Amino acid sequence: TPPAIIAPSILSADFGNLGHECSRKMEEGSDWLHVDIMDGHFVPNMTIGSPVVTKIRGYVDRPLTPNGRGTFDCHMMIMEPHKWVREFAKSGCDLYCFHYEAAVSSVAATDPTDTTTKTRTSPRALIRYIHEEGMQAGIAIKPDTPVDVLWDILDAEDPLERPDMALVMTVHPGFGGQKFMASELPKVTALRERYPDLNIEVDGGLGLGTIDQAADAGANVIVAGSAIFGATDPADVIAKMREAVQS
Ligand code: DX5
Ligand code: ZN
Repeated sequence: TPPAIIAPSILSADFGNLGHECSRKMEEGSDWLHVDIMDGHFVPNMTIGSPVVTKIRGYVDRPLTPNGRGTFDCHMMIMEPHKWVREFAKSGCDLYCFHYEAAVSSVAATDPTDTTTKTRTSPRALIRYIHEEGMQAGIAIKPDTPVDVLWDILDAEDPLERPDMALVMTVHPGFGGQKFMASELPKVTALRERYPDLNIEVDGGLGLGTIDQAADAGANVIVAGSAIFGATDPADVIAKMREAVQS
């Protein structure tokens, strides 16, 4: 299993002080920062766009270590994810994690004669495009999506078309503070069995009470919003979560 990566979700931060909230989480021992981008269409909520990412990026050093400390992990809960790749690359996003469901609906909506758009919309084409723009690529699935849809994508022969991370949602995306869905963990187990070296991220309802189950299933990238931002000692929660993944 790859190293433990703890990624606080800044969805639970004080949005009036986002820059400082980001630098504080890094000082408290975070590996990555998880940035939830919501468009009000793919999910029934809206957050921030690339102008804000550009600004808060300046509060955190660029990735320095093999663990990718400081990586901006942008979780794109948006329709038409191909439309925002270039803008997010420019804003300093390091990992562009799109939803499988959104990519597939873009393919369905694309005029087959529009060859430019066609070369960007399918999951594989989108991953290639994200890599060409200099970011890592992640692919996320919602609770209603079976994990099997990922096999074909993760098995791409061309490394440019292969994702760097798979994200298994453990809540229905849209809001922080929801209850962890243990029903999603068999997806993590199946992914870990097939891909021992893949970064596998879990997101939603993770905290000290649920981390062990997720770690046992094989997740190594742990997102937590309310459990970290709501803690009296966030550094301690981050350390304990890392310990749970590594043990
Ligand atoms: C939910 C977001 C999560 C959220 C997690 O749609 O993708 O990243 O912030 O929040 P908690 O950890 O509070 O469930
Ligand atoms: Zn998220």
